[in-house]
Amino acid sequence: MTLKHFLKDDDLTTAQQAEVLELAAQMKAHRYAYRALAGPQSVAVIFEKPSTRTRLSFDIGIAELGGHSVVIDSQSTQLGRGETLADTARVLSRYVSAIVIRTFGDERIAELAEHATVPVVNALTDGWHPCQLLADLQTVAEHKPLKGTSIAYIGDAAFNMGNSTVIAASLAGMHVRIGAPEDYQPAAAVLERAAAINAETGGSVTVTTDPVAAVEGADVVSTDAWVSMGMADSAKRFGDLHRYQLNDDLLSHAAEDAIVLHCLPAHRGEEITDEVIDGPRSRVFCQAENRLHAQKALLARLLQEAS
Ligand code: CP
Ligand code: NVA
Repeated sequence: MTLKHFLKDDDLTTAQQAEVLELAAQMKAHRYAYRALAGPQSVAVIFEKPSTRTRLSFDIGIAELGGHSVVIDSQSTQLGRGETLADTARVLSRYVSAIVIRTFGDERIAELAEHATVPVVNALTDGWHPCQLLADLQTVAEHKPLKGTSIAYIGDAAFNMGNSTVIAASLAGMHVRIGAPEDYQPAAAVLERAAAINAETGGSVTVTTDPVAAVEGADVVSTDAWVSMGMADSAKRFGDLHRYQLNDDLLSHAAEDAIVLHCLPAHRGEEITDEVIDGPRSRVFCQAENRLHAQKALLARLLQEAS
């Protein structure tokens, strides 16, 4: 499969995902040895929502690859005055070798990708956070082989992180256990896509409303914010999700050598407690570091395909 854009996790095949993760591990071991953006080639990195990790890791990663990054908030561009994404894509494609964007609805990134002649990378949309999952899988792979390893994802599983965890982990042949209230479970279309992937990879997805059942014996336990960027901060969400807090009690049901992931930023005392995030099983800061290595590998692979 030709790899043109990375808008969602399964824009990579299982083999391509494994290649990117292998390259990411090499890039981590030899941080300044890869110069895929020498020239320097430029990459536009556009934000329509806030960011710390994604902004810094793309900016720094592009520099480490010998490239030049142009990191901008869309509000400071003509996008903020209504210039279309299609025209923006046509213009930026004349300047840069790739466009990275964090935005709201997936139709926005789809419009950009349709009109760009360079690769477009999803730096988080409402539907997906695929760059995050590359870093998550790299972090898990540093602990255990991905295939056959189980990952419990607890809390709001109906938004970007839940969806991407289901699809990316399925591509890697992992066993995903979703523990979420009914209204916070991945959409049927996401679960159907995962089932098709798992028929090839041997992975699986199970969905339960019982957080303990989801975590029981799991090798990896992951969670995310209860109120994501762009959502109203509703008391209802806290009421619905409080039973799914990742605390020591819930974690005690996981495998003895289980590791904990959280994409960050954490809302300490809400979806995860201090004792867990600062505890011996937490890998969240390795996970944040791996954003850098995984995204460098992804950019190198996309540009190799585009050249
Ligand atoms: N995990 C993540 O995407 O963090 P930022 O919002 O800080 O980029
Ligand atoms: N689900 C969170 C992820 C933040 C990196 C959000 O969209 O705000």
